[in-house]
Amino acid sequence: MNILNLYFSFTGNTEKVALKIQETIRELGRNVETIKIISGDMEVDVLKYDFVFVGSGVYWQLPGIPLMELHRKLLRKYVAEVEVKPASPRRSSANVVVYCTYGGVHTGINEAVPAVKYMGQLFDHLGYTIVGEWYIVGEYKTEGFRDRSIGGRLGDIRGRPSETDLRDVTEKVKGILKAFSS
Ligand SMILES: Cc1cc2nc3c(=O)[nH]c(=O)nc-3n(C[C@H](O)[C@H](O)[C@H](O)COP(=O)(O)O)c2cc1C
Repeated sequence: MNILNLYFSFTGNTEKVALKIQETIRELGRNVETIKIISGDMEVDVLKYDFVFVGSGVYWQLPGIPLMELHRKLLRKYVAEVEVKPASPRRSSANVVVYCTYGGVHTGINEAVPAVKYMGQLFDHLGYTIVGEWYIVGEYKTEGFRDRSIGGRLGDIRGRPSETDLRDVTEKVKGILKAFSS
């Protein structure tokens, strides 16, 4: 099975999760290709992979701009190549887990939902089955935003994702691969 671990991270929280995903997959004795998105101009052929983890921090309710630019570029390319077809028929054994790290200061998880749904759509269009949508809390780290890590909808989220959050990621990766990989 070819596994892709694709992510965007501006302040490092999603990167912690992505590296934990990579570590767990390797501990399971499987290979994984980890790709950090740095620009929408990158070349990534997601169709080479039959299991994908894709994640981003949430910024203004959406994933990072480089990730959205890459998704848009890939969608255009795969439409032109007729890999995206009307009714999006399922590809057999092609699965994706979509996740975000988010702070949720204003409306909690609701302000992260659009980001996860956005990221899932490229893969859903391509016929991948979305087998997981994970929401992982991530503290606000940039200057001027740090006070949002206390007193919002999620309470005190300083230090998140915590060791406990990352242990939870490990368990979920093990479970999902057990369930959906051959
Ligand atoms: C500029 C900026 C905008 C943000 N906007 C949102 C938002 O709309 N909703 C949300 O839940 N979290 C928001 N956050 C919090 C981030 O999603 C959270 O800290 C996340 O873990 C950052 O991921 P990263 O460290 O991988 O970049 C924002 C953070 C920053 C810095």
